[in-house]
Amino acid sequence: MQIALAPMEGLVDEILRDVLTRVGGIDWCVTEFIRVTERVLPASSYQKLAPELFSGAQTAAGTPVRVQFLGSDPACLADNAAYACTLGAPVIDLNFGCPAKTVNKSRGGAVLLKEPELLHAIVREVRRAVPAQVPVTAKMRLGFDHKDYALACAQALAEGGAAQIVVHARTKVEGYKPPAHWEWVARVQEVVKVPVYANGEVWTLDDWRRCREVSGVDDFMLGRGLVARPDLARQIAVARAGQPVVPMTWAELQPLLADFWLQARRKISPRYAPGRLKQWLAMLTRSYPEATELFNLLRRENDCLRIDSLLGIDFIGSERAEQASA
Ligand SMILES: Cc1cc2nc3c(=O)[nH]c(=O)nc-3n(C[C@H](O)[C@H](O)[C@H](O)COP(=O)(O)O)c2cc1C
Repeated sequence: MQIALAPMEGLVDEILRDVLTRVGGIDWCVTEFIRVTERVLPASSYQKLAPELFSGAQTAAGTPVRVQFLGSDPACLADNAAYACTLGAPVIDLNFGCPAKTVNKSRGGAVLLKEPELLHAIVREVRRAVPAQVPVTAKMRLGFDHKDYALACAQALAEGGAAQIVVHARTKVEGYKPPAHWEWVARVQEVVKVPVYANGEVWTLDDWRRCREVSGVDDFMLGRGLVARPDLARQIAVARAGQPVVPMTWAELQPLLADFWLQARRKISPRYAPGRLKQWLAMLTRSYPEATELFNLLRRENDCLRIDSLLGIDFIGSERAEQASA
């Protein structure tokens, strides 16, 4: 059984990948989508969206990081994938689920689920272009505005050479509205031999149990649930091993929150760092009442120094210590 941390553009960046994979239970994660239109992107794009490639293609906890591409031109995607492999991408993942209007308008993401032959051509070309030892995987929704092609799309991906398929069990039109149709994951797994991952609406251990029962699969990708409950993957791994599950407390979460903020201070401009902290805190309010209190305290705060002091963090001191140890 594998548990993956879902790609989430604008939310799960290198900082959150680092912090969440340190909690444990996550077998692999994947970058935010890298949009490919007409040329091979320079190394600087990867430095921004897939910085782990420059430190062994894994997070500090040792969790492998896959590189996700989004586009519709098979040859261009193939060229970019081949280049990413020269930078050390261990797995190439292809996005066929993005619901964004701007992306879909330029023939990318979920809109491609209307064209199973194109899905096949994309995976085939990318598969051909990358070294044999680098798996190509795919992430799909159940369709664009209906589910009639869901099985044909999954078959097209598998026949094209996808080694695994993640199914976000909703159509594009269904957006993020519950429920996720986990029973469709079972239907997809019936028609392809490669492992199928269930994805969508797993927020708690009980959700995971139900998802496993309904989908019948053993592999899962967790998105918002894992951001809102950072030990969700660990809880699942512990439960599977038949051990008693002890959820992470708010106090145990504090070092992670502090580290998230320190990294945000270092890597993101002071203009945007507070927003990132509030974004994660807002999601944590789903699982921790204490997060609501902290969120309300920080809600109107945009000054990094004042946020340091509200969090009890000595950023300047920690910078000095970092420099001294470098
Ligand atoms: C803010 C946000 C950004 C996302 N960005 C991506 C992305 O870059 N690539 C992708 O394949 N899916 C993306 N997704 C979809 C998620 O990977 C996942 O399929 C979806 O959130 C359902 O899983 P969940 O209910 O566990 O969150 C994104 C979802 C959200 C909420």
